[in-house]
Amino acid sequence: MNAPDIKTPLPGPKARAIIARDAASVSPSYTRGYPLVIARGEGAVVEDVDGNRFIDCAAGIAVVSTGHSHPEVVQAIVDQAHKYLHISGTDFYYELQVMLAEEMGRIAPIDGPARSFFGNSGTEAIEASVKLARHYTGRQYLIAFFGAFHGRTMGSLALTASKVLQRRAFGPLVPGVYHAPYADCYRCPVGLKPDTCGAECLDFIDEQIFGHLVSPDEVAAIVVEPIQGEGGYVVPPNHFLQKLRELATRHGIVLIADEVQSGMGRSGRMFACEHSGIKPDIVAVAKGIASGMPLGVSTARRDVMSWPPGTHASTFGGNPVCCAAAMATIRLLKERLIANAEEVGAHVLDGLRGMTDQHPLIGDVRGRGLMIGVELVRDRETKERATGERDRVVDAMFRRGVLVLGAGKNTVRLSPPLVLSKQQADIVLQVLDAALTEVEARSSS
Ligand SMILES: Cc1ncc(COP(=O)(O)O)c(C=O)c1O
Repeated sequence: MNAPDIKTPLPGPKARAIIARDAASVSPSYTRGYPLVIARGEGAVVEDVDGNRFIDCAAGIAVVSTGHSHPEVVQAIVDQAHKYLHISGTDFYYELQVMLAEEMGRIAPIDGPARSFFGNSGTEAIEASVKLARHYTGRQYLIAFFGAFHGRTMGSLALTASKVLQRRAFGPLVPGVYHAPYADCYRCPVGLKPDTCGAECLDFIDEQIFGHLVSPDEVAAIVVEPIQGEGGYVVPPNHFLQKLRELATRHGIVLIADEVQSGMGRSGRMFACEHSGIKPDIVAVAKGIASGMPLGVSTARRDVMSWPPGTHASTFGGNPVCCAAAMATIRLLKERLIANAEEVGAHVLDGLRGMTDQHPLIGDVRGRGLMIGVELVRDRETKERATGERDRVVDAMFRRGVLVLGAGKNTVRLSPPLVLSKQQADIVLQVLDAALTEVEARSSS
């Protein structure tokens, strides 16, 4: 099934009834952009409770890397579920967790041998990474970037600087975090042009943060997304990450790469750091690692991850069923899906760039692999953000049978399962084209 198939008004009657029950009983803090109620999924296709079919370019927020319910992942889950569901790696041993830690040691872009800590989510992988960096260095302070999203628990939230709403009314947050400008080359924070850029935005850390706020020898870690996710799918130049690695090394600061969204093949490499060749000291992973089963991993240089028993643990972290799903996922990524992400991603980027002339709303097209952002603007000169228009494009795509999410204030994010075919990608491009045409017509009338 490749083409979308919309049979009812959206939401259909069954979806509408479930959404009404949800409104009465589920936390209203979730951000549902449109009314999709899933009944089942297969590969890059989702069917809703009314029988409508969609091509999925959201993947459950960049999670179902091998597609919905990949048979080999499901089989691994079922096989493990028949053996045992839980024992807790905090107090006991099981080989699956060791196998996954060994595999992470092989695939993570870490210099030398590595160890892994297991949690259940992205935010836990960040919490573990930051606690480890503080424990290892004996230092307190942390540096993150504007636009970053690292999670919503109190420690991660102090690093997150994406939308004010995510932080508002939750203070005081964990103290000791400073933010620096990220290399958003479409909107260069220091007003330079990409062709002459020397990642001058990073001078802010040396000159402003270290010059006025904190001594570098008190900084435990710098936390960076190699490609910013929720902040708008922003791809920094390679030399930004290389210069950041040098800066961290120079001051004995631990470099934490948050690969929660950009990792596990999404960027066309196993980890997005690989595009720049940098080796962080700690890598945080979640989302795509287990194709939808909850798992977060913090993988670090073995000498860095040397905290003693009792310092950090999680009852459910590294659940055996999730580890089994992760092992199957990693095998599928290596066999075919990373290559597919690279190939189909390049095809989508070409298609999007070919569309730019017909669509004044398109300000910037960027991405790596199947982590692609289309930033919409009201005016290409002023780059005024087309936030309302972006929301309308997302909605228009839903009504035409393609699921996408927004990212940042005005970017459409394409983060499909890595099984997306070129044929499906072409349909996505046609649907985006039609949605842009519709929204542009409405904006000019
Ligand atoms: C880069 C990044 N880090 C951390 C997180 C937090 O992950 P979780 O929602 O699993 O806690 C996210 C979630 O979107 C993310 O994109």
